[in-house]
Amino acid sequence: GLNIAKVLSQTGYTTLDTGYVNTASCQSAITYIDGDKGILRYRGYPIEQLAEKSTFLEVSYLLIYGQLPTKTELENFADQVASRMMIDERLKELYRSFPRGGHPMMVLSAGIMGLGAYNRQYLDPHNPEHVEEASLRLLGSMPTMTAYAYKSSVGEPFQYPRKNLSYVENYLRLSFGTPMEEYELNEDVVRAFETLFILHADHEQNCSTSTVRMVGSSDANIYASIASGVNALSGPLHGGANQAVLEMLRDIRDNGMNVKDFVAKVKDKQSGVKLMGFGHRVYKNYDPRAQIIKGHADALLRGTDNNNALLDMAIELEETALSDEYFIERKLYPNVDFYTGLIYEAMGFPPSYFTALFALGRLPGWIAQWREEHTDPARKIGRPRQVYVGATERDYVPMDAR
Ligand code: ACO
Repeated sequence: GLNIAKVLSQTGYTTLDTGYVNTASCQSAITYIDGDKGILRYRGYPIEQLAEKSTFLEVSYLLIYGQLPTKTELENFADQVASRMMIDERLKELYRSFPRGGHPMMVLSAGIMGLGAYNRQYLDPHNPEHVEEASLRLLGSMPTMTAYAYKSSVGEPFQYPRKNLSYVENYLRLSFGTPMEEYELNEDVVRAFETLFILHADHEQNCSTSTVRMVGSSDANIYASIASGVNALSGPLHGGANQAVLEMLRDIRDNGMNVKDFVAKVKDKQSGVKLMGFGHRVYKNYDPRAQIIKGHADALLRGTDNNNALLDMAIELEETALSDEYFIERKLYPNVDFYTGLIYEAMGFPPSYFTALFALGRLPGWIAQWREEHTDPARKIGRPRQVYVGATERDYVPMDAR
């Protein structure tokens, strides 16, 4: 096809697209989104089917290698990943050096760079064996490192992964297990996390994924690229929104505010307050991931007395917003982050940790996208242009004349 951007660049014209609202940075065969219809597919498979029928590791395989694995392929993959779950004891010490209350996304990002330093024999981005080994090591280490970021923030002893547990089971035990007693796995919780991680696994060229690809385009190694993705994800307009949503709900509750007054405040642009967990650059319809998560939140959070005040408040917020002209006109719907925090809170995680859970889920997507970028025959270093609006040429003024 005609590369319009290239043709234009030769004529001296530059396209200004702040925030890349309509600029495709690559061709990709991984994830398809139709934002108007609320459709999301990984490698052609509808997210609803994967969320219901698949496991996180199977979806990771699908994203990275392009097709669903056979039984043997999946067993082999799970084995390869599991055997890379333990991290070097000295790397473990890194986690102890962070202060209590240090943000888990910072700790996680540093941990991934540390992992790269410990895996320095697998850093060549153009050696397929290095890339494969690094991908498996990242996948294997991520539950351990994410759980250690949590354990270090609460001051509990680190647990070791076990080969007889699945990926998600290991993650939960690494997070909640203590040396004092055997951690009892709850099947509903395990399934909920399988689903949540599947829903987060990829989302085409969002801010963190574009960052991973951009950093990778300079031939930086995969660890550096993925740590950069973690950093991009941490922002409250992106993955950090799951933490922001819970803090928003707690604020409304603690200030005794009613939902209608809060929505009125959001509509008043002067307030600078946003309805966190609402709106999306691509979805102009209900985010299909939010729809699935809402169902899980309802099933998991309602006890026998059907009582959960924050969930009730979230539902009331959603209903109020969806029937309000401001949100209707702008096509603002709940996104993936609107209901996840409530589930994470119910599992016992502090809000500052929620975005690390997003990162754990997004890892296979980042790996798949990094690998796709590296094998794209049209690949080029990412290097956007700008429209210069600064001073035109002026002469240097000596200090005493300013
Ligand atoms: N609350 C109130 N108003 C909003 C919201 C919101 N959450 N989101 C968008 N709007 C308004 C904007 O003020 C703007 O209004 P205007 O046309 O009167 O100026 C209009 O809707 C369009 O919004 P943009 O900011 O232009 O949309 P953009 O695509 O740039 O931003 C974003 C998308 C960042 C997700 C935005 O909707 C937002 O800030 N949402 C809250 C944070 C959030 O939940 N982020 C998670 C996104 S999903 C993810 O990353 C995993």
